[in-house]
Amino acid sequence: MNEKIEKALNDQVNAEIYSAYLYLSMSAYFQSIGLTGFAKWMEIQAAEEFSHAKRFYDYIFHKGGKLKLRAIDGPPVEWKSTEQVFTDVLKHEEKVTSLIHTIVDLALSEKDHATNNMLQWFVAEQVEEEATATDIINKLKLIGNDGNGLFMLDKEFGVRLLNPLVFQGLTG
Ligand code: FEO
Repeated sequence: MNEKIEKALNDQVNAEIYSAYLYLSMSAYFQSIGLTGFAKWMEIQAAEEFSHAKRFYDYIFHKGGKLKLRAIDGPPVEWKSTEQVFTDVLKHEEKVTSLIHTIVDLALSEKDHATNNMLQWFVAEQVEEEATATDIINKLKLIGNDGNGLFMLDKEFGVRLLNPLVFQGLTG
């Protein structure tokens, strides 16, 4: 496997596991303030991020590369509000989008069409991730300080289910 590509993909495994770690920390924060629906939603988000890491992990193996797992940085543990959590989610997803685009640029410059093709799933996924975070921020802005609105949204978030196809690598 091309060494530069192998390193970039290994870095992305680390970034995706960090995303899972960050969202699990956000889940713990929501638990601590009694928003159990948001906590459940974040827990599922974390599981999806782990499945993203696994996609890169599997791809490195399939291409005969070497997987090098590294230490994961500790995520923040406190936020000022629900809206601030989702503002951080959006910022984080924008950063992940730029990481993915940088690997696409590398794959194109190295004429690695297989890696570019694999990455296109992530390019589309990042559009979804950013749109979801923006949508939630807009809803939270509408709700403002209305406790009832937050309670209703928490109930809605609590019914999110993990799609079992995620771990078969068939969806995000
Ligand atoms: Fe794996 Fe939320 O990007």
